[in-house]
Amino acid sequence: MRRPWLAANWKMYKTVPESLAYAQELWHLLSDIKGWDQALDLAIFPNALALWPFAEKWAATAIGIGAQNLDPGTEGALTGGTSGFLLREAGARFVIVGHSERRKYFGETDEIVRTKTEAALEAGLGPIVCVGESQDERRQGETLKVVHRQVRQAIETLEPSHVRRVTIAYEPVWAIGSGLVPTPEEVARVAEAIRADVADLAGSEARDQIRILYGGSVNDQNLLSFLDTPDVDGALIGGAALNAANLAKMARRIMDRDPLMKSGQ
Ligand code: PGA
Repeated sequence: MRRPWLAANWKMYKTVPESLAYAQELWHLLSDIKGWDQALDLAIFPNALALWPFAEKWAATAIGIGAQNLDPGTEGALTGGTSGFLLREAGARFVIVGHSERRKYFGETDEIVRTKTEAALEAGLGPIVCVGESQDERRQGETLKVVHRQVRQAIETLEPSHVRRVTIAYEPVWAIGSGLVPTPEEVARVAEAIRADVADLAGSEARDQIRILYGGSVNDQNLLSFLDTPDVDGALIGGAALNAANLAKMARRIMDRDPLMKSGQ
């Protein structure tokens, strides 16, 4: 069974002390939610500078830790680079790859996203590969075509055993930070198509194991409408997760949804 997953992408916010204070507050709030760590996964994606101190304090707990980006390769004369290997050594277990902000502001192409996905897996990190259409592409009815291309380009060269370690986040570009969201039906249609692509590329086991997240203006009010979609296993949350109380509220919503999960069954 795929566990629900809440992933908090802090983007370029929060200093190291702010990151540690948040984690402390979150831990305190989560301690009031009985059994959460048996029923769901929760990971924070702070700035890379905060990874090491964050991991030192929280790696032994159920709060997962990931990076927001990586550079391919292990080590070398690559000024300014941060490899998956370095991130893993600093405590990261996951890494976001191909976020639309990286595609837009840092020129990341599908090819670069593929290289980074491979590099993440080689470094032993679980990549969260972000895909999603722009507003224009949506208007032109190209959502599935764009997502299909991005998914294939990212994972088609991977061994099926590697594909199973990938998470795919469907994040419509127009929904990120805008307060606009697609309908749960639209998300369901895209998530189903992503699973079909995974089956096609890596077989039915990978299709059943891979986790798919929805991201883009998720908050504690709309979270469950996306998670109730059978193919969606969790959410990648930006703005709403900058506040520990909000993230804890989301964890509580998941726990309250299903009494079976509450007892960890
Ligand atoms: P948002 O960002 O929740 O602020 O829309 C999501 C993301 O960029 O991953």
